[in-house]
Amino acid sequence: MLQFNFSNLMQDGIGGNGLMKDDFKRIDGNALNTAIQSGKSPELEFLDLPGADTSAIKEMGRYAGKFDNFILLGIGGSALGPRSVLEALSPFHNIKSKPKVFIYDNVDPMTLHCIMDAVDLKKTVINVITKSGSTAETIASFMILWQKLKEQSLKPADHIIITTDPVKGNLRKIAVDYGVRALPIPPGVGGRYSVLSAVGLLLAEAVGIPSGDMLKGAVDIHNKCIGRDLWQSPAFLFASGVFLMQQMKKRDITVMIPYADRLKPFSEWFCQLWAESLGKDGKGLTPYPSTGTTDQHSQLQLWMQGPEDKVVVFLSVEDYGADVQIPAVFRDMEGLSYLSGHSLAELIKVEQEASEIALAKNGRPSITIRAPKIDAYHLGQLYHFFEIATAATGLLTGINPFNQPGVEEGKNLTYGMMGKKGYEAKKEEFVKYRQRKGKLEL
Ligand code: PA5
Repeated sequence: MLQFNFSNLMQDGIGGNGLMKDDFKRIDGNALNTAIQSGKSPELEFLDLPGADTSAIKEMGRYAGKFDNFILLGIGGSALGPRSVLEALSPFHNIKSKPKVFIYDNVDPMTLHCIMDAVDLKKTVINVITKSGSTAETIASFMILWQKLKEQSLKPADHIIITTDPVKGNLRKIAVDYGVRALPIPPGVGGRYSVLSAVGLLLAEAVGIPSGDMLKGAVDIHNKCIGRDLWQSPAFLFASGVFLMQQMKKRDITVMIPYADRLKPFSEWFCQLWAESLGKDGKGLTPYPSTGTTDQHSQLQLWMQGPEDKVVVFLSVEDYGADVQIPAVFRDMEGLSYLSGHSLAELIKVEQEASEIALAKNGRPSITIRAPKIDAYHLGQLYHFFEIATAATGLLTGINPFNQPGVEEGKNLTYGMMGKKGYEAKKEEFVKYRQRKGKLEL
């Protein structure tokens, strides 16, 4: 199981800057349990994903796994989750294994150009993921690839798998009308809470990652976090700790620093979950993605002596699954030889703890989460843990952690400018803005 250490949030760990046990009496540490029991929030359906039937995903994964290439089209929660699964559990995947995976989220034309150069569409399966079925970036790239299949006289239905809402939306209609294979995203599950649905699990299955182990991990952490009181539930304690640090100590920034290259995309996944869920109504906690040890040599100075506005979340790893000894060369040079006889795993672990100690000595709070190893089981735990912790933080903050109203305005302006029916007023607004902006151009 994951292990959680909160001592560097408390007075004992970091002196005057820490929290006291009594401070936790200020909050409703049971907010999420109450919300679950009241059953009012359909978006809490993400909590059911670990126990869901995944036989259809597995079957589709076997189909997709027969191709040489797997292109994933999706953005936001529809891309960050799958990418973090792949990179954590199948590092350097495209050098070693098939199907080769290309995740196309941003609509940078050069990226698509390069992907098209790299793949033979005859040997390619395309998984288009969009819960709403209307996200412009995903729909645009889907339309392009649909046309490219047709130009090569390939049947889209043989090459496309749609992952979308079970009943609604443009993509569900296309699945029905054109007989395209499709997997559902449960209605209450939003993009950033969907990695343990078909969104993340189809890719996992297609490349041979045991999705069942991810779900097993999620079930186990679920049982450790839900239905328990504050001091027994790591997710509630995490939520309460960062919430109190913000309320009482003005610490608005949450730094996520896994000590593993393989978890770098996980850090990006977390940042979307945290930012889009919590940033609204003038409230929120700002996430900050990072990687150890790399960012010790880039960001740590700021965390140590800069503004006192951060809580650092360390993700440490016990067993890296590989290790390399540092050889006994340059024995006569003390500046090098002290490293001989140690290993890289030892070095990275010592560096992680050293940063933790140094921050604590300087009164800077942190939380440490230790994963015994980076495998499907523990990754499933990490996803589910942070989803629960994020929902709980949102409830404590008094905002809705499941919507993203602030994203809509930009989408509507784009629709207007790209000519979508019903958005004509947005186009006018856009044009006026360009005229105004033009006046200040140098
Ligand atoms: O978390 C979210 O809800 C968003 O980030 C969505 O995942 C993103 O906007 C893409 O939406 P959709 O899956 O509807 O295309």
